[in-house]
Amino acid sequence: MCGIVGYIGPKQAQEVLISGLSKLEYRGYDSAGVAIGDGACITVKKKAGKLANLSGELAAQPLAGTMGIGHTRWATHGLPNDTNSHPHATEDGQIVIVHNGIIENYLSLKEGLMGRGHTFKSETDSEVLAHLIEEAYQGDLEGAVRTALSQVRGAYGIVVTHVNHREIVAARTVSPLVMGVGEGEMFLASDVPALLAYTRKMVFLHDGDMVVLNDDGYRVTDLAGTALQRPVETIEWDAEAAEKGGFDTYMLKEVYEQPQALTNTLIGRLHDETGEVNLDINLDPASFKRISIIACGTAFYAGLVGEYLIEQLARIPVECDVASEYRYRDPLVSENTLAIVVSQSGETIDTLEALREAKKGGAKTLGVINAKGSSMTRELDDTLYIHAGPEIGVASTKAYTSMVSAFLLLALWLGRARGTISGEEGAELLHATRELPRLVEEALAEARIEQIKRVAEKYHQARDYLFLGRGVNSPTAYEGALKLKEISYIHAEAYAAGEMKHGPIALIDSNLPVVVVATESRLLEKTISNVQEVRARGGKVILILSDGDTENAQHADDVIYVPRAHEMVSPVVNAVAMQLLAYFTATALGKDVDKPRNLAKSVTVE
Ligand code: F6R
Repeated sequence: MCGIVGYIGPKQAQEVLISGLSKLEYRGYDSAGVAIGDGACITVKKKAGKLANLSGELAAQPLAGTMGIGHTRWATHGLPNDTNSHPHATEDGQIVIVHNGIIENYLSLKEGLMGRGHTFKSETDSEVLAHLIEEAYQGDLEGAVRTALSQVRGAYGIVVTHVNHREIVAARTVSPLVMGVGEGEMFLASDVPALLAYTRKMVFLHDGDMVVLNDDGYRVTDLAGTALQRPVETIEWDAEAAEKGGFDTYMLKEVYEQPQALTNTLIGRLHDETGEVNLDINLDPASFKRISIIACGTAFYAGLVGEYLIEQLARIPVECDVASEYRYRDPLVSENTLAIVVSQSGETIDTLEALREAKKGGAKTLGVINAKGSSMTRELDDTLYIHAGPEIGVASTKAYTSMVSAFLLLALWLGRARGTISGEEGAELLHATRELPRLVEEALAEARIEQIKRVAEKYHQARDYLFLGRGVNSPTAYEGALKLKEISYIHAEAYAAGEMKHGPIALIDSNLPVVVVATESRLLEKTISNVQEVRARGGKVILILSDGDTENAQHADDVIYVPRAHEMVSPVVNAVAMQLLAYFTATALGKDVDKPRNLAKSVTVE
């Protein structure tokens, strides 16, 4: 994530930048910084921690100037300290940049730049951008930014100023950027709420767009310099709606953010050329003989998918425990154990204590974590961040799919390192994993949403629900039931489909909707046999099917189609349908999905 802002016009920039950043803190709050130009020089002020740390200092000693850029950080590369905070300036202080995203090839670029005499101050990937622009600069800032961007691979929303130019140059690929159009002034930000206090006229920049702003207006081009037309739109949202990006709830906004969250989880980690996965972790895959995955709630279900993936692909024995049980069951741990804790917040007390228990037994520890700098990350040997960005809705959505994707990466990495998957199989899975953001985007197409909404509304009065799935998608069923319970308060049970006949089958009657994950898999025929068992007893069958599967549709009362996906990555795609089914059921019942009763986002009590 990270939030960025820019301003050029008659006002004092400091006020505009701080106001904008305060609306973007939801995108990260590891540090904040501004760079303000007064025509003679650009002054950078940045501080680790929340924006209040910076704004307090600036209130006491304001920076004068009417052009500036600002940043609030969600750290990815480099610790959340003052030095790694944005903006980043060249050594002579002439060029200053802020960046949101990840530059995948920053290490090789950095080596090249250092070889050509550049000195780096921070550990960030972003700083290479300032140096690349400096190297390309010959009096034309726009041209220098264009040349610099032609060398980078990855995601960026970037905003650049130069002391000799009364203009701001910005560009985006993957990371969002919106421009605010004022009277004799121009604004930039990662998101609409940052600008609403100043203008409602916005231009949404597209992937590959570049823009030059000055006091009189703006010019949009593509990265090759060809002029583009982008419409000015008038935003009608009120401030609260704007913070939710125009969505009714944070949960729905976060459901829609999944393609971006998944891109962030995967970016820089998959290498098509070599078929390798680069996780930047210091574990020796040969040093452990078993893996314990430990987590709570939704994170636990992501762990169950992880268990399946790692055992399948890396052939290491894995067990998965809910943290509150693990802590007290005197687990067998040794130096050959790798304990993986999974947590969005990194603060859940049961998981934290379970981590301590595993460490006590001598296990090596790895975290699959969203929140940078959280308590768990300080005690773990290593952390695989999922980079899903802040999750505000109490019911976890984007963190779940990002955690599952992180397990895909981990299983691939372990499988390749241990030689349990061939280069060919690895390449196929790598390709399937890379497709995930696009598949999830497709799963969020309007016609699909409407279909899920119809199904949800048809059954929203049900007293109970049953969810079934098999293999790598049995956790999808568990997660589907949990989402429904949490936000609609409808009782829901979930079972591995083959286990249904050993008890839950007694529940089935014509009042019971049964959601079955029946997307393409090796076990599909067996799953359909379980569906027949439900049908024979009068249950209402809602099938989650892969696009084009009309044959199995005949066994269903209702069908929810999802994009076709490789079986191993399908839990990510299928989870989206589960989230939306729960969401529209809850809204049909008039429930407050962002604040479900009795729940808290971060559970720090035992
Ligand atoms: C469910 C949900 C919870 C959390 C659980 C663990 O939607 O959000 O079940 O998954 O409380 O939280 P973290 O991942 O922060 O450890």
